[in-house]
Amino acid sequence: MQVFTTPAAFSAWSDAQRVAGRRVGLVPTMGALHEGHLALVAEARRHADVVAMSIFVNPLQFNRPDDFTTYPRPIDDDLAMCRAHGLDAVYAPAADAMYPTGFETHVEPGALADVLEGAQRPGHFRGVTTVVAKLFGAARPHVAVFGQKDFQQLAIIRRMTADLDMGIELIGLPTIREADGLALSSRNRRLTAEQRAAAICVPRSLRALADALAGGEHDTTVLTALARSVVLAEPLARFEHLEIVHPDTLQPLTTIADRAVAVTAVWFGDVRLIDNVLLAA
Ligand code: PAJ
Repeated sequence: MQVFTTPAAFSAWSDAQRVAGRRVGLVPTMGALHEGHLALVAEARRHADVVAMSIFVNPLQFNRPDDFTTYPRPIDDDLAMCRAHGLDAVYAPAADAMYPTGFETHVEPGALADVLEGAQRPGHFRGVTTVVAKLFGAARPHVAVFGQKDFQQLAIIRRMTADLDMGIELIGLPTIREADGLALSSRNRRLTAEQRAAAICVPRSLRALADALAGGEHDTTVLTALARSVVLAEPLARFEHLEIVHPDTLQPLTTIADRAVAVTAVWFGDVRLIDNVLLAA
């Protein structure tokens, strides 16, 4: 496995792969790897001959300085996991290789970034589209794999890839969960044991919502209130938002007539967890 720290070195590797006729797969991450990230790697393998992972904690997408500084960075463990899982290359640039002095160009997402997470975290998605465009530019992959756990992020990156004619195949993978239902997340490792136990109220609230829909309740006000009550019953949880929107437009729905997605964010101390569930009437 080769490890690169500059865009030029990573691009040279990727160019050589394409010249040799190989399909290049890219899995962008911020490290602190878990089984969810590794599932993306396994999926990339099915669609590409060589797979690279990027590991970069992107300062542009953090709207709270403390979240950026406390974000876990176990780079040695991450590289060992990448080696053990057969990655061909890792791209782990330092911040000044990614954003050297004089850097000033950003990718501005559209209306998809104004709602949900975007409304709660100003500038977040502009940071994501900018770094992902740079990663795509350095790697020029045939295919890139993202998790549906970050549902809005995937929708925005799909839009960017189409709007900017990037010609990259995007694959979205369903969320990988712990046995008790909690979505795997790098931020989970910052939870205390008590908060970790309490955090199952998040998938539980989404399950209650999906069950009520299956039972015939289509009114999103009723469904939202039900899910919210599950989180409010947990003393260690601080409810932030839960919305039911159309999966393509991300616009709110009053009733579920067809497809929908319920997205939520809940705080445990200073750790913010997100989750979502896809729904069909
Ligand atoms: P990060 O949070 O490290 O996530 C990297 C990728 O792993 C994303 O596509 C995310 O959706 C996916 N992922 C995270 N948890 C998952 C789970 N439990 N199951 C399946 N996939 C999961 O998302 C980012 O980094 C950054 O915003 C990035 C795209 C790398 C840009 O900086």
